[in-house]
Amino acid sequence: MSTDTVALVTGANKGVGLATARQLAERGLTVLLGSRDAERGAQAAEVLAGAGLAVRPLRIDVTDDASVQEAAEFIEREYGRLDVLVNNAGMLVRKPATEVSAEDMRPEFETNVFGTVRVIHTMLPLLRKSSSARIVNVASDSAMFARTTEPGSMFARSHESFAYSATKTAVNMLTVKYANAFLDDPDLAHIKINAVTPGYTATDLNGFKGVRTTDEGARASVHWATVGDDGATGGFFNDEGRLPW
Ligand SMILES: NC(=O)c1ccc[n+]([C@@H]2O[C@H](COP(=O)([O-])OP(=O)(O)OC[C@H]3O[C@@H](n4cnc5c(N)ncnc54)[C@H](OP(=O)(O)O)[C@@H]3O)[C@@H](O)[C@H]2O)c1
Repeated sequence: MSTDTVALVTGANKGVGLATARQLAERGLTVLLGSRDAERGAQAAEVLAGAGLAVRPLRIDVTDDASVQEAAEFIEREYGRLDVLVNNAGMLVRKPATEVSAEDMRPEFETNVFGTVRVIHTMLPLLRKSSSARIVNVASDSAMFARTTEPGSMFARSHESFAYSATKTAVNMLTVKYANAFLDDPDLAHIKINAVTPGYTATDLNGFKGVRTTDEGARASVHWATVGDDGATGGFFNDEGRLPW
């Protein structure tokens, strides 16, 4: 891939998103480093650009229609299309399942689910203009029914990620729904969309308790963001391969 390939990574001012932005730029893509805070985004992008990478900051708050629309207008003006979209922005609020109210769940759904749809919906006209577009939705191991229904497993016992896990399962389903819809539309059939999980990665999200580095956590996103035309669509993967739902 070349700097002609334009990628947007949301929530890329730190953590897995920052590593994803760097790795995509190291592969030669032009990367728009998405950040809801302009200053944090500018600082992160400056470090990567200072290392000679084609990285520019782009303010984008996935919960805010106007911000996402402005980001799309910037991309339209500067590049006329978008080739790669990594929906990485996400949040986790820990609270035991039995204490979570409907209201408590809203912020995570707003960011992780509605934010992902808001960005895809707004960027779709730009992705349509790419000759071979890729969307990566960052989900989570905790999204998996296969693991959560395994008696005694770590996932069966983690009651504090109640809302978060539900949001990531929703992300997985909407990934499959988009993939099917794209395949059925000749104007969108060139867009591959997959869900990935970084694995348990040391970031702010988990107080840096994760066991993987952000470089390791970014691998699956980068792979599916740059997969060839013979690659899969509508799947769920980590950096070792396909995962069960
Ligand atoms: N770390 C793990 O073990 C793990 C495991 C499975 C999945 N994931 C997923 O991986 C992705 C990256 O998380 P991370 O671990 O790298 O966490 P992180 O270090 O906390 O990074 C989260 C990023 O999302 C951004 N963000 C939050 N709300 C946003 C909004 N409304 N608009 C735009 N950006 C927003 C944050 O921006 P601010 O800096 O402004 O807060 C930050 O850049 C998330 O989707 C997460 O659910 C992580």
